[in-house]
Amino acid sequence: MQLSDSSSRILAGLLEARTGQQLTMSRRWRIETALSALLRERGIATLDELITILVMGKEPSLSQEVVEALLNNETYFFRDRGPFDVLQRHVLPELAKLRDKSKRLRIWSAGCSTGQEVYSLAMLFAEAPEQWRGWTIDILGTDVSTSCVDRARSGVFTQFEIQRGLGINQMIKWFEEVPDGWRAVEPLRRPVRFQVHNILEPIPHPGDFDIVLCRNVLLYLSPEKKALAFERIAGAMAGDGWLMLGAGETVIGQSNKLGADVNARGLYRLVGDGSRIEKRLVDRRSATGA
Ligand SMILES: C[S@@+](CC[C@H](N)C(=O)[O-])C[C@H]1O[C@@H](n2cnc3c(N)ncnc32)[C@H](O)[C@@H]1O
Repeated sequence: MQLSDSSSRILAGLLEARTGQQLTMSRRWRIETALSALLRERGIATLDELITILVMGKEPSLSQEVVEALLNNETYFFRDRGPFDVLQRHVLPELAKLRDKSKRLRIWSAGCSTGQEVYSLAMLFAEAPEQWRGWTIDILGTDVSTSCVDRARSGVFTQFEIQRGLGINQMIKWFEEVPDGWRAVEPLRRPVRFQVHNILEPIPHPGDFDIVLCRNVLLYLSPEKKALAFERIAGAMAGDGWLMLGAGETVIGQSNKLGADVNARGLYRLVGDGSRIEKRLVDRRSATGA
């Protein structure tokens, strides 16, 4: 399949307009592989024919399918294990104290793909039922891709997908066999919900999230779009909440509302006006006359 420069520019432009994701020249080789299944299903012979149909605007749903096929949805359970250990050892115990009165936690996984990250989080709570008894845990997973959100919502994974990240004992404990794969059991499905949402749009309800995960989502956004995404995320966080990014991602130099958590590698917190942490420090200092 030969892809002309102008066709690849049109497809890259469509992807960026809908999601902010940039397909730089060095990554345009992905286009042909990513779209081959869609072309086969739709009986479209070449990418240039696809572009003609898109430009004529006769099939509005086709452009969304193209965008979804071009997105990178790579994910797996407990991806890069370390951050989940930090959550378990550092953040959740701290939040258990901070939210002891309300006994409510809100977590947002932005760019959750097919849901493995969200169910991994649900597992952290389900593995410690005594500790979280009486708590309301709300884990929201959002993604710009409707097909990803539909799959995440179904809670059904193939054995291969589950075993990328989970051992056989966890698979048997947390999934039940169904005709089309393995379905997350009710204790994992109960605290989670999913919604189609673009990280560049206003934040999803109810906001005030105690933890936001936005991992491996913003890598290919332009600096302006990245700054906008961080602005949205900062606006969605509780004043004393945490942000977790993917390995190798950072807010440094890209947001003046977020700063690294010195106590937890890979985690970020609000700084300046939005921060309840700084407010607590100031209150403590004025109470002690420091
Ligand atoms: C590489 S996956 C990462 C999934 C998961 N966070 C992880 O780290 O395993 C990136 C996900 O971000 C989603 N995405 C890309 N642009 C987005 C946007 N503007 N808003 C919301 N989700 C987006 C993609 O559809 C994809 O599912």
